[in-house]
Amino acid sequence: MKLQDYFAEKKVLVENHMKTLIDSYEDIPKISEAMNYSLMAGGKRLRPILALMTCELFEGNAEDVLPFACAIEMIHTYSLIHDDLPAMDNDDYRRGKPTSHKIFGEGFAILAGDALLNKAFEVMLEAVMKNPSEGRIKAAAYISKASGVEGMIGGQCIDLYYENREADIEILNKMHEKKTGALIKAPLIAGAFIAGAAEDDIIRIEEFGQLIGMAFQISDDILDVEGSLDKLGKNTGSDANNNKSTFVSLYGLDKSKELAKSTVEQAQNIISLYGNRGLLLKELSNYIIERDV
Ligand code: IPE
Ligand code: IPE
Ligand code: MG
Ligand code: MG
Ligand code: MG
Repeated sequence: MKLQDYFAEKKVLVENHMKTLIDSYEDIPKISEAMNYSLMAGGKRLRPILALMTCELFEGNAEDVLPFACAIEMIHTYSLIHDDLPAMDNDDYRRGKPTSHKIFGEGFAILAGDALLNKAFEVMLEAVMKNPSEGRIKAAAYISKASGVEGMIGGQCIDLYYENREADIEILNKMHEKKTGALIKAPLIAGAFIAGAAEDDIIRIEEFGQLIGMAFQISDDILDVEGSLDKLGKNTGSDANNNKSTFVSLYGLDKSKELAKSTVEQAQNIISLYGNRGLLLKELSNYIIERDV
């Protein structure tokens, strides 16, 4: 199957499942509306699709991985709502729509993010309680860590601290690995755990995830300079406005593009080991640096 068709098919699967996860809390003002607003606004659904891909690569059952895939998309969406807040990147558009705080106010945007984060853990724990398999338990534990201070939140701390400060390449690598890489690696590993992949496959997928996560954020930094609001659904120039330390601010556009490409090539070498079974993931790694969305 072609990558584009795969994405289109799985996007529907993921979105239909996510719709079933957010209740309408009729006695609580605004919250379900705010949660749904950001979660269902669109987005590439890259992370849940990555979980489905490795689950299939290791011949697991897609149904089993779906709650974990959706939980990661909820955690990712919460991270975006908070990332856009005035106290952080202060952005007005996300996924082609005004940001949560523009519609619901800062307080409710914070709460909608919190609520999505907690819902994600509720969904994973329910799946684990239904069938406490080793794969599910390991997946939930991995996702928890990837979302926290050792992962995404830690990366956002580095990002915030290095506004108006100079970050060297070591710091940038660490920041990218955590703020973006962790939540790209997590679905790949969750899918593999749930499918019962062997230890050396997990190590390989972890290396692959590390590399495409890095390439993804370099390309996000490039798109912040070269992209368009129309396609990206978010304003460009945000990094420069906030005096962020990025690959582009350190190396310029050309060198950043070169780095993204060589990072993807390394990732593809790893996935080549799986021959035809790894073709989708291989194609996906190209998409990560060729995208305009
Ligand atoms: C944007 O992620 C934030 C980063 C971690 C770079 P995506 O580019 O995957 O955003 P959506 O989910 O498609 O909106
Ligand atoms: C955000 O990185 C990563 C997150 C953990 C949300 P950016 O701040 O560059 O993401 P965008 O460009 O706003 O999507
Ligand atoms: Mg940010
Ligand atoms: Mg941002
Ligand atoms: Mg960005």
